[in-house]
Amino acid sequence: MLEDIKEVYYSEEQLHQIVERLGKQISNDYKGKNLMLVSILKGSVVFMADLMREITVPCSIDFMCVSSYGSDTENKTGVVKIVKDLDINVENYDILLVEDILDSGRTLDYVRNLLIDRHPSSIKICTLLDKPERRAVDLYADYSGAEVPDEFVVGYGLDYAEKYRNLPFIGVLKEEIYTN
Ligand code: IMP
Ligand code: MG
Repeated sequence: MLEDIKEVYYSEEQLHQIVERLGKQISNDYKGKNLMLVSILKGSVVFMADLMREITVPCSIDFMCVSSYGSDTENKTGVVKIVKDLDINVENYDILLVEDILDSGRTLDYVRNLLIDRHPSSIKICTLLDKPERRAVDLYADYSGAEVPDEFVVGYGLDYAEKYRNLPFIGVLKEEIYTN
């Protein structure tokens, strides 16, 4: 698995610092609110598990599983399939969407609009990584861990064709892995 990685972008230690900072910000901003973390599966599972433990205010959690890519590396269509919906009624909750990476923005734009229709008290976005130069819709993250250039990254929950999610760091895949 390691031999497929061209370069490490964020080490375990760096990721820990990033998540700690986000947790502090969120804990500060959501004092007295009714916070629900909504993890967008599967990519955000590692980030979610670490982030929730850095949050010091009470919160609920739920999971939504969406799929848009198959094994391709780009969401060209904006078509998002809800594989698993939320269990909890989001009315009266302050939702924070927890995502691994904001790329074109189409996935989160779709999910955000879907949840807005269910009348939560508020809805914001927290993404570990942001690829701003790739944005195809007008969407921004309220909380962002780090920006990455337009390269395909894996690890810490992020996959290529369902692999590499268990790498503890974020790295760039060698191009020959996904062009072959
Ligand atoms: P968007 O709809 O284009 O913003 O795509 C968001 C989703 O695409 C993320 O939740 C990831 O699952 C996937 N994705 C986008 N860029 C990458 C990447 O560099 N590595 C792994 N997955 C990615
Ligand atoms: Mg993915």
